[in-house]
Amino acid sequence: MTSIPVLTIDGPGGAGKGTISSLIAERLGWHLLDSGALYRLTAQAAVKHGVALDDEAALERLACTLDVAFPVEAGLPRTLLEGEDVTGAIRTEQAGERASRVASLPAVRQGLLQRQRDFCQAPGLVADGRDMGTVVFPDAPVKVFLTASAEERARRRFQQLQDAGVDASLSSLLKEIQARDARDTQRSVAPLKPADDAITLDTTRLSIPEVVDRLIRLLAQKGLASAH
Ligand code: DC
Repeated sequence: MTSIPVLTIDGPGGAGKGTISSLIAERLGWHLLDSGALYRLTAQAAVKHGVALDDEAALERLACTLDVAFPVEAGLPRTLLEGEDVTGAIRTEQAGERASRVASLPAVRQGLLQRQRDFCQAPGLVADGRDMGTVVFPDAPVKVFLTASAEERARRRFQQLQDAGVDASLSSLLKEIQARDARDTQRSVAPLKPADDAITLDTTRLSIPEVVDRLIRLLAQKGLASAH
């Protein structure tokens, strides 16, 4: 497909993909695709325009014409939908739940496909999602599947919310994570699963720097990055 190197990082929500992907992209000076944000933005656009979350044809049109931008302001990455700052709004549990619903619709996935591939630009791309290695970048030279137990992922999310001063219940977070896993792995199109040639890494007992180091070493073995 392309000679631009792509590192795909797939896995369930809360496995640390977002943090790890952005640290690696920063370290290598590569571009970053947060594909989950595109599903979150499609759902957000649907709410904004009064489109039902099961109206596949209307959602496909929204996905194809999504007006989004990812500027960096004062060193912080922002997300704009039709010029409106939705950086925080698309990160709520409710926004994640809506994203998971629109992401189960084949026409929405098709509508976002080319937009995702357009992120593949020199010098390289770190692509974070559920189907980066299986569907969007099947020829990527390095594919990783990051996992962690559902309990550990709920604990991490709980900690994140607490740090942000948001009230949360660990047991309801665990239930939400399990429901989202079920929907993401059982959908008929592009279900969450490791690519045949992906390396699976369980991060339950690994720190963020340990995971970053392992992935940089993998890229170095393929001659795509320096290990230091
Ligand atoms: O990674 P995230 O939590 O921001 O993703 C939000 C939802 O979007 C998630 O429930 C599954 C879906 N998604 C997907 O189906 N395919 C992707 N490549 C990325 C996300």
